[in-house]
Amino acid sequence: MIGRLNHVAIAVPDLDAAAATYRNTLGATVSEPQDEPDHGVTVVFVELPNTKIELLYPLGDNSPIQGFLDKNANGGIHHVCYEVDDIIAARDKLKAEGARVLGDGEPKIGAHKKPVLFLHPKDFCGTLVELEQA
Ligand code: CO
Repeated sequence: MIGRLNHVAIAVPDLDAAAATYRNTLGATVSEPQDEPDHGVTVVFVELPNTKIELLYPLGDNSPIQGFLDKNANGGIHHVCYEVDDIIAARDKLKAEGARVLGDGEPKIGAHKKPVLFLHPKDFCGTLVELEQA
């Protein structure tokens, strides 16, 4: 059911330092920071030949990644995003398998303007999973 790895999201406590690490130390192509107020994050996109890394930094008072950074002061992998062809069919199959879909279970428009859902980390090897309709 799942297809390509769309991105790995890494929450970071210092966005400039993280961007510099990817740009200079790792030699990657790194975007300018982009504010995503609807998602409570500022994002730097790291373009790799086969996927993307998203460096996430909290934006605003109710950022969904603030609690993660409170527990992981150095940052860490926050979620992985897999592509699916049909997000409603994917959701219905996952629910039938007993997996927990976060929120109200309805897809939201994600940072890439495509429908996304998040799946409970306890059902997926301790990793928050995002599904994006490609
Ligand atoms: Co994501």
